[in-house]
Amino acid sequence: MTDVQLVELTVNSERHELAIPPRRTLADVLRHDLGLTGTHVGCEHGICGACTVLVDGRPARACLLFAAQVENAEIRTVESLAGPDGELSDLQRCFGEHHGLQCGFCTPGFLMLAEGFLAEEPGATREEIREVVASNLCRCTGYQTVVDAVDDCASRRRASLQAALDTAGSTR
Ligand code: FES
Ligand code: FES
Repeated sequence: MTDVQLVELTVNSERHELAIPPRRTLADVLRHDLGLTGTHVGCEHGICGACTVLVDGRPARACLLFAAQVENAEIRTVESLAGPDGELSDLQRCFGEHHGLQCGFCTPGFLMLAEGFLAEEPGATREEIREVVASNLCRCTGYQTVVDAVDDCASRRRASLQAALDTAGSTR
C-alpha cells in the first residue's frame, strides 16, 4: 500500500485538502490533482522553468518541490493572472503584443517568472530583465520578444503608478 499524507495547500487563494504520497511533486498536484494544467512540465529536473509558479510571491520550480513542503505557503499559478471574466492581465497582453510566444509551451513559466520578478523589482532595467529571463528555456522565440514584453509591461506599470501618484498629489 502506498503511504499517503494529508496536505493542505492554498493555490490561487483557494484552500485544498489532499491525501497524497509524501513525495508527490507540486507540479503533479497542480496538474493532476487540481486540474491546473496551465503549469507545464518539460524537463522535470529544474532546468527548463516551464513549471515556474509563485510560492509566497517568489518564482519557484514546481517540479523540484514536494507539495508537502509548501503547505503553509501561498501558491499562484498562471491561471491566477487573468481576471475572473477571463480578461488577460497586463503582462499577458504584453506577451501577445510583442509576440513573446510561439508554440506557447514555455509561456506559463515565463509569465510567472516575470510576474514574481516585477513585483519585487518594479524598477528593473532591460539588462536585469534579460538576466532573469535567461533562467528559463524557450525553443522558439529567441528570447528578444520575451524581454521586450516584460520590459514594456514594467514601463507601463511604472507609468500608471506615476499617473496615480500625480492624480493623488493634485487632489490634495
Ligand atoms: S519542468 Fe520544472 S524546470 Fe523543467
Ligand atoms: S514559445 Fe515555444 S518554447 Fe517558447
